Amino acid sequence: MQNDIQEVLYSEDQIQSKVRELGAAISRDYEGRNPLVICVLKGAFIFMADLSKNVTVPIELDFMAVSSYGNSTRSSGEVKIVKDLDTSVEGRDVIIVEDIIDSGLTLSYLIDVLERRNALSVRVVALFDKPGRRTVDLNADYTGFVIPDAFVVGYGLDYAEHYRNLPYVGVLKPEVYSNR
Ligand code: PRP
Ligand code: MN
Ligand code: MG
Repeated sequence: MQNDIQEVLYSEDQIQSKVRELGAAISRDYEGRNPLVICVLKGAFIFMADLSKNVTVPIELDFMAVSSYGNSTRSSGEVKIVKDLDTSVEGRDVIIVEDIIDSGLTLSYLIDVLERRNALSVRVVALFDKPGRRTVDLNADYTGFVIPDAFVVGYGLDYAEHYRNLPYVGVLKPEVYSNR
């Protein structure tokens, strides 16, 4: 598996230290509140686990899975809910946890859904951001790392469902995805 990685972009230590910073910022900003923290499956599962351990205000956790219609290119720009929340967001301070923002379509759709369900507030924390790939105007409220448009995997991020369990984030060797 490690043989498929061309270069480590962010080590386990670098990621853990950034996640602690993000957790501290959220803890400060949500002092005295009880936010509902939503993990966008599957990519955000490791970030959600680590981030939530670094948040010191009382939180509730829930999980949602979305997918784009049709194919993986997201050309349609449409998103559908594959697994919905168990919790009502009405009147709640909601924090959406994402591993990465690329086109921004997933998050713009999710924010819209949660606002229409009358969340009190909706904020986004994203560990990685690829602003160069954006097709909709969207920014996270808390961002870990701004990264170039490279094919990155690990720490939740997959290529064809592989590499999510790497504790670091690396760039995939081009031959890995061009051979398929
Ligand atoms: C990836 C990533 C984000 C989304 C970002 O999820 O985890 O959720 O794409 O892309 P966007 O900004 O262009 O919408 P993916 O759909 O690959 O599902 P996964 O989390 O299960 O890997
Ligand atoms: Mn995802
Ligand atoms: Mg994916």
